[in-house]
Amino acid sequence: MSILVFDSGIGGLTVLREARVLMPDRRFVYVADDAAFPYGDWEEAALRERIVGQFAGLIDRHAPELVVLACNTASTLALAELRAAFADTSFVGTVPAIKPAAERTRSGLVSVLATPGTVRREYTRELIRSFASRCHVRLVGSRHLARLAEAHIRGEAIADADIRAEIEPCFVKGEGGRRTDIVVLACTHYPFLANVFRRLAPWPVDWLDPAEAIARRALSLAGAEHPPQAGDDVAVFTSGAPDFATARLMAGFGLKIV
Ligand code: DGL
Repeated sequence: MSILVFDSGIGGLTVLREARVLMPDRRFVYVADDAAFPYGDWEEAALRERIVGQFAGLIDRHAPELVVLACNTASTLALAELRAAFADTSFVGTVPAIKPAAERTRSGLVSVLATPGTVRREYTRELIRSFASRCHVRLVGSRHLARLAEAHIRGEAIADADIRAEIEPCFVKGEGGRRTDIVVLACTHYPFLANVFRRLAPWPVDWLDPAEAIARRALSLAGAEHPPQAGDDVAVFTSGAPDFATARLMAGFGLKIV
């Protein structure tokens, strides 16, 4: 049996690479719903229906022992519905790391960088109310970063000015010289740009990437003891036709497109 890792595009690879470190003997199926990418701007009801609809076929075809929903935009919207619709399958979600950020911040100023969808979600607002009520949390919804991250990881040139414009609202100055010290990367695409973010940031901050924590959660559900699984790790693109650069990237990740 395999572990299925799902995202709207190639951002979930940032989670897959951590999951493989912790579970080297497992077989992984990576699914990119690229026919619907980006999820960030979708209307909620339509996107929920889209995601649950995709899983009906995926669970039939791959019968995974575990699903890692490596997408904040999907998890904050559809995790509960997926668990209800596919009660025999375990799901690990990816939601903004607001709790660890609130525990770690020294200045009390935290920013959450995410897609416009994740920023709008009631789920995200509830995380702030429950875990970060003593912090000032700025939600920054970015229209372009997921696409820019895809371009960057495929080897295309991206302009510093375009990235700077997207991350600038994360940097907040408060009273008494306080300033933002943590930016939560609340979209799985963004860790691919972490080095660019560090270089362009107006001051150093901790860029919080939850991928390792998600992989640990997946390991705790999947169990450490497991016979090695036969078969290649594979990637599925819902468009059926990833471009050449994406295909090369998948090969670099050791994923065979099926
Ligand atoms: N990677 C997805 C996330 O974690 C979203 C990218 C998109 O489709 O807009 O939110």
